[in-house]
Amino acid sequence: MTRFAVLVSGRGSNLRALAEAAKSKRIPGEIALVVSNRPGAKALEFATDAGLPTAVLPHKAYSKRRAYDRDLVRLLQAYDIDWVLLAGFMRILSEVVVEAYPQRILNIHPSLLPAFPGLAPQQQAIDAGVAVSGCSVHFVDAGMDTGIIAAQAVVPVKHGDDAAALSKRILKAEHKLYPRVMRWAAEGLLDDGIPPDTAARLLLP
Ligand code: GRF
Repeated sequence: MTRFAVLVSGRGSNLRALAEAAKSKRIPGEIALVVSNRPGAKALEFATDAGLPTAVLPHKAYSKRRAYDRDLVRLLQAYDIDWVLLAGFMRILSEVVVEAYPQRILNIHPSLLPAFPGLAPQQQAIDAGVAVSGCSVHFVDAGMDTGIIAAQAVVPVKHGDDAAALSKRILKAEHKLYPRVMRWAAEGLLDDGIPPDTAARLLLP
């Protein structure tokens, strides 16, 4: 069984989608650890209720990013983690983590990367006037929202959408897309650091 760690900072709706998929046995893997950098994250409540092992690694206790990241790697190694899934984890990982888990870290971002990286991508999409946006699951390198794209889901941007309405539509797609890519990881389809050549890489509305 592939051992996943899910890294969170907030609400945890993607964690929930991943946990449900793992539990349903559609995925030959398990969430072996949930790590939050915020002690009060709602995601932690869900994880505890779901009986998932949790750890809090508060970034405020560290003045240096690399020191934080070294402790994070130690924690992941202590739990024998194979894959690291970032799900609303609001920190950039330095090469300390990226090199400890080469091509074994994924992130989900609510835009069609490389468009609209960084903060408030839904508002960026609205401001740009695009007709479609969506979400991307990508391998993590030391950049922000860069790295090879594993899969993307497209959603329409509708007239009158505000960031909240678009976020909601995108989030629904995230909850379908991320478990799908998690399954690929568990099945070994991402072992070479490149996505499988399948139509399932693209989820349409
Ligand atoms: C999601 O929109 C995800 O794409 C982004 O942060 C948000 C996390 O939401 N990286 P949740 O905590 O999974 O509900």
